[in-house]
Amino acid sequence: MSKDIIRLRPIGADETEAAVGVLARGMRDNPGHVAAFGPDPETRQRCLDLMFRGLFRVAGQRETVGAFDGETLVGVAASAPPGECRLRVGQQARAAATMINIGPRRLLRVLAWQSAWGRQHPDWPHHHFGPIAVDRGRQGQGIGSLIMNEFADRWDRTAEPAYLETDKSENVAFYRRHGFTVIGEAPVLGRPNWFLRRPGLSTAH
Ligand SMILES: CC(C)(COP(=O)(O)OP(=O)(O)OC[C@H]1O[C@@H](n2cnc3c(N)ncnc32)[C@H](O)[C@@H]1OP(=O)(O)O)[C@@H](O)C(=O)NCCC(=O)NCCS
Repeated sequence: MSKDIIRLRPIGADETEAAVGVLARGMRDNPGHVAAFGPDPETRQRCLDLMFRGLFRVAGQRETVGAFDGETLVGVAASAPPGECRLRVGQQARAAATMINIGPRRLLRVLAWQSAWGRQHPDWPHHHFGPIAVDRGRQGQGIGSLIMNEFADRWDRTAEPAYLETDKSENVAFYRRHGFTVIGEAPVLGRPNWFLRRPGLSTAH
């Protein structure tokens, strides 16, 4: 189906289940998730399901965009506005509680991964972009670009910078096309990760 009929709108509270499903399926095979959750695809999808369920439960302040093909959600992205990207202690505890069923070793790997990302986290104000995923089987059809254009328009209107992390080199090319540049690279759980920034139009950063 053509991307011309994909519609973008915020994800409603009653659509969380569908959004979690798209994120878990779409991100199942990312290298970081293989490192964190292991070689079995079904296990990875179950762990990601729990992880994103926890995130949606606690991170209500995030701006969401869903890409809909008719009534079907096919792409999801979220972004946190400046100053709101770090979860507060209580929120971290609630997210961890939702994830407890992934098992202690996997949970420890998630904490190590989050802490490695935390060490790269910029101290300048930014929109913290992510997660973004297009459903498996719908990737490479322009849906992710539609979502990125929507966020880029918002950031350009406020002239504020954006920041994101990624664990896939293919995604670096994708984000570069949407105005991001790589500002850092570091291994996370033994896999290369890239840290990218998109400048605000009229700020010093
Ligand atoms: C990354 C992602 C959101 C891009 O959305 P998309 O709809 O597939 O991308 P588009 O069709 O708009 O653009 C295609 C470009 O995206 C990049 N890309 C990254 N992963 C891709 C994939 N699995 N399939 C196709 N393109 C992919 C390529 O640079 C591609 O450019 P090319 O066609 O010149 O090779 C989507 O592929 C996805 O969900 N990937 C898995 C989850 C993920 O990595 N999320 C981001 C974590 S930081």
